[in-house]
Amino acid sequence: MEMIVALADIYEKARQFWQAVNDGKIIAFHGEMGSGKTTFIHALCEVKHVSSSFSSPTFSIINEYLFPGGAIFHIDLYRLKDEDEAIRAGVEDCFYSGNICLVEWPEKAPGIFPENTLHIYVDFIDSRTRRLRLGDK
Ligand SMILES: Nc1ncnc2c1ncn2[C@@H]1O[C@H](COP(=O)(O)OP(=O)(O)O)[C@@H](O)[C@H]1O
Ligand SMILES: [Mg+2]
Repeated sequence: MEMIVALADIYEKARQFWQAVNDGKIIAFHGEMGSGKTTFIHALCEVKHVSSSFSSPTFSIINEYLFPGGAIFHIDLYRLKDEDEAIRAGVEDCFYSGNICLVEWPEKAPGIFPENTLHIYVDFIDSRTRRLRLGDK
């Protein structure tokens, strides 16, 4: 799966993304700072009609949002050092909770991701456009 996402069509692309990943629940977003991981994850949450308002999880590693189908965890590992810190923060508990987990900076703790994790690579195309690609770990 590969999609080109412009800011102007981000919600439509977010809906297509959910269809494309089907039952994928743990989704790791790889990409440089500013590539658009948080922005796209927020769009994914919006189109699932999350009820709680949300902000960047930069200062709190795990944010839980409620939506009509359950919960979504938005996890940002940026400030963590390694697997141990991630485990202590409760990230594994989220992975095995059965809820959707959308994770930024998975390379901080690669060893804790379950086998069925979907890995998405986000690349800069131009100031308003990004490419999302489903790839190998
Ligand atoms: N198509 C796009 N998708 C996502 N972000 C985009 C896009 N076009 C421009 N942007 C901008 O790029 C920046 C991405 O920042 P952010 O989502 O915080 O990145 P990251 O979480 O990867 O560090 C935001 O300012 C956003 O408005
Ligand atoms: Mg981010």
